[in-house]
Amino acid sequence: MCGIVSAISYRNIAFTLTEGLLRLEYRGYDSCGIALFKDGELTRVRSMKRVSDLEKQLLDCRFDGCIGLAHTRWATHGIPSKYNAHPHFSRDKFGKPTIALVHNGIIENYEELRNSLDKDSYDFESQTDTEVLAHLLNDFYDGDIFRTVLNVTKLLKGSYAIAVFCSNEPDRIIGARQGSPLIIGIGVDENYLSSDSLAISDKIKDLIYLEDGDIVELKRKSINIIDSNGSYVERYKHSVNNIIATPNLGKYRHYMQKEIFEQPRAVADTLHNVDNLSHDFFGQDYYDLFNNIDSVLIVACGTSYYAGMTAKYWIESLAKIRVDVEIASEYIYRDSVPNPNTLVLAISQSGETADTLSALKHAKSLGLKNTMAICNMNNSAIVRECSFSYITQAGIEIGVASTKAFTTQLTALFLLSITLARYRSILGKEQEVAYCRDLRHLPSAIGSVLSLEPLIMEWAKYFAHKGNSLFLGRGRHYPIALEGALKMKEVTYIHAEAYPAGELKHGPLALVSEHMPVVVVAPSDRLLEKLKSNMQEVRARGGNLYVLADKGSTISNDSGINVIHMPEYYGMISPILYTVPLQLLAYHTALILGTDIDKPRNLAKSVTVE
Ligand code: F6R
Repeated sequence: MCGIVSAISYRNIAFTLTEGLLRLEYRGYDSCGIALFKDGELTRVRSMKRVSDLEKQLLDCRFDGCIGLAHTRWATHGIPSKYNAHPHFSRDKFGKPTIALVHNGIIENYEELRNSLDKDSYDFESQTDTEVLAHLLNDFYDGDIFRTVLNVTKLLKGSYAIAVFCSNEPDRIIGARQGSPLIIGIGVDENYLSSDSLAISDKIKDLIYLEDGDIVELKRKSINIIDSNGSYVERYKHSVNNIIATPNLGKYRHYMQKEIFEQPRAVADTLHNVDNLSHDFFGQDYYDLFNNIDSVLIVACGTSYYAGMTAKYWIESLAKIRVDVEIASEYIYRDSVPNPNTLVLAISQSGETADTLSALKHAKSLGLKNTMAICNMNNSAIVRECSFSYITQAGIEIGVASTKAFTTQLTALFLLSITLARYRSILGKEQEVAYCRDLRHLPSAIGSVLSLEPLIMEWAKYFAHKGNSLFLGRGRHYPIALEGALKMKEVTYIHAEAYPAGELKHGPLALVSEHMPVVVVAPSDRLLEKLKSNMQEVRARGGNLYVLADKGSTISNDSGINVIHMPEYYGMISPILYTVPLQLLAYHTALILGTDIDKPRNLAKSVTVE
């Protein structure tokens, strides 16, 4: 998704800004650009290629500057093109650029604002909502760009994080946020604005998370923030002592592969000290919260939504609490019946997903005050919006297709399920000891599943020649089938659908023929016999089965039935293990097809627009 890196310094910051953009590449983008100010002139280069192309253009043009705005764009308004790429300029009557602007988010009333501008005064060079904002700032400019941003943002509807530069006042950059993340990075004699701390973490001592409605004036040695009430405010400075290490691939070919193989470590870290599982696992502060709820409402998107679906099976079965799982973007816009004793659980890797954040705010507006985030990013907007949070320890996830973030979410959600069961005194001691033992073994069990990679690579050779695939599961493994299909479509672009196997005969069976590979998640749980009947339905129509089963499943290789045997059945937490081969299948199929695995087309890592 779009990324902002902007700085004001005494030194040339051109390549500092492009280095920041390189660190944001993982978020996905279709074009990029940078504007620099030097000797009274604003210069700009933009590209439809990678950030490395921007760097080449900067060298070729010999552009540099101590003040700059840089951006990676993920198209929303206007096609991906050089002219739609940011920064956008607004010019004086002689055609000289005076205002430069980069923007994340969407200005919903941009057409109305565009119509309010005098058509003869501004030449529109792009189809973007952002350029309208640049001209609007020019139109309202009264000699003080800080005040102008303050006035103009009052007219905006939608979400935005912006960085603005005005060449008449070259000693400052102005930033503003509403609904899209923006942080201030404080360096030595230089300051930064960015949408992601990763972009600048090695350049700064402290960082400040701006709040919605904040406008900031950034100078080399000072910052001033005005809040949504128009008052000057101090915001908490977080020291950047545990600087996020620059990710590197090590021995892996892609981040997706690396992150799949990091799962034993990520899950172990998320478990913390599971030996000592007690009422206090989530902290004593949870006492009132967990004691006072009688239902759970999960809001999430995409992969995180599938983690929520799995949690419904766990929480309802173990803690006997009713759970509703809502796709965030649907929940916001439908009439629901709020129950004040609900725990609202927002699940998110990035903690910045606009739909999930809006769903959370919507739930709060309906009087649901008990909120908890399960999130991979501390201090993210979703964490800050919730009263409680549990931070998964996946570490930074670069691959756009989520892998280790999902299994760590599942791990956290299982911990939550057994903790809620304890609070209700419905978890027998023996059962609890058994769950803790399984959880302790989980990282090494994931390690054993990873060693199946060569077998999965054989399957991938077959899938790479297919245009479609079907994924089946039942019970708590149905969301895992959904996640397997999502991974497949994201990184291979092969059409993949997932169904609860019992639904097959109600429609999707019509798709099955010898051309349709059908992946089945078939652990030896209580639904296995039912699942076997569903597999027969597929075989009877010539469909080829690719079955993930454990020894207890007693399914063997046969004509049209290809089986990979998983380690022993892990009971309740088995969904976590069955996720891993599906990730590997998608990865290796994509590898054969030669897609851009870490940055699949049209996708972005952190979806900060609705
Ligand atoms: C799929 C994927 C997305 C995200 C979704 C929510 O691989 O990564 O479906 O899960 O965009 O993102 P978060 O979890 O950051 O809220």
